[in-house]
Amino acid sequence: MSKARALSGIQPTSGSFHLGNYLGAVRQWVELQSTHDTYYCVVDLHALTGGVEPAKLREATLASAAQLIALGIDPDKSTLFIQSHVPAHNQLGWIMECITGFGEAGRMTQFKDKSSKNGSDRTVVGLFTYPMLQAADILLYQPQYVPVGEDQRQHIELTRDLAQRFNTTYKEIFTIPEGYILKAGAKIYDLQDPTAKMSKSSSSTSGIIELLDTSEANTKKIKSATTDAGREVTYDEVKKPGISNLLTIHSAFSGRTIAELEAEYEGKGYGDFKGAVAEVVTSHLDPIRKRTQELLQDKGELTRLLKVGAEKATIAADATVRRAYDAMGLIPRG
Ligand code: TRP
Repeated sequence: MSKARALSGIQPTSGSFHLGNYLGAVRQWVELQSTHDTYYCVVDLHALTGGVEPAKLREATLASAAQLIALGIDPDKSTLFIQSHVPAHNQLGWIMECITGFGEAGRMTQFKDKSSKNGSDRTVVGLFTYPMLQAADILLYQPQYVPVGEDQRQHIELTRDLAQRFNTTYKEIFTIPEGYILKAGAKIYDLQDPTAKMSKSSSSTSGIIELLDTSEANTKKIKSATTDAGREVTYDEVKKPGISNLLTIHSAFSGRTIAELEAEYEGKGYGDFKGAVAEVVTSHLDPIRKRTQELLQDKGELTRLLKVGAEKATIAADATVRRAYDAMGLIPRG
C-alpha cells in the first residue's frame, strides 16, 4: 500500500529557526518521513506579506532550506522545495481566491490580529489572501495530513471548506486534508516571558534560542532565563512557567521524562539545572549549526537539491491545476 501523504510549509523568516520551530514543528516533520510520503516547502511567497527586504529574503530562504536538511529533512525521502519555484501555487491560489467569500476571509483571526495592529492602510492585500495561497499550497499535492501547530488550525479548516466547496460545486478533485495538530508537549515558550510562545515576533531576542547562534550565546540566554519563586525544579505550568519550560526543553532533547528530571534535580537548585539544560541544548545544536554552515558554503549543491524537489513538486502540482482549470471551464491551450 502506498503511504499517506503529508505536507507542510514554513516561512523563511530571518536567518535562523528557533527552538520553537524545531521542537514544535520540524522535529515531527522529520519523524513523518519514515511513515508518510512527505512534501515540505519553504513558503517564500507568504513571506512577502510581512514586508519585503530582498537581500534578507534571499538569505533566509537558503538558510531555511539548509536548516531543514541539517535538522533531518532528507531530500531523498521528502520532496523539499521552495514555494516560488512552483508557479502552480499562484495559479491555484487565484482559483481559491475566487471561491472564498470576502466575509469568510475577513474572519481569519491571524489576518484580523495583524491588520488591526498595523491599520488597514499599512496592511497589504496579500495578507488578506494569505490563507487562500496556503490552501493552494496544500491542495495542490492532495495530502491526507498537514502537520502544523495549533495556531494554524483555522487556516486548515478554511482549506478543508474550500476543498469541499470546490468538490461539490465543480468536480471531485481535492483530497480533504486533515490537520495533524502537533502535540502540546512540544510547545516552547519565550525564556524571558515564559507565558508567551517562543516566536520571532517577540520584542527581544534574549528569550529565543536560535539554532544558528553560537553555543556561548545560547548558554548565556538559558542561564539568564526567567525563573520562578522557590528553588525546586518541579513542573508546574501555572506557578512555575519558567522552570516548566526549561524542563520541557531538556526532556525534548535528552529524551528523559519530566519525572526523571525532577528526581535528578531534587535539592539541587536552579543554577545546576540551568547549566544542564544549556549543555543538553548546545550539544544537540552544535552539529546542526555546523551542518547548516557546510550546506550554505556549497550553494551549488543546495540549489541542485532544491531544483530536484521543485521538479518533483511541479509534476504533481501542474496536474492538479490542469484538472481544476478544466473543472471550472478554463480551456487548455491546445
Ligand atoms: N501559515 C503557515 C505558518 O505560518 C505557513 C504555511 C504556508 C503552511 N503554507 C502552508 C503550513 C501549507 C502548512 C501548509 O506556519
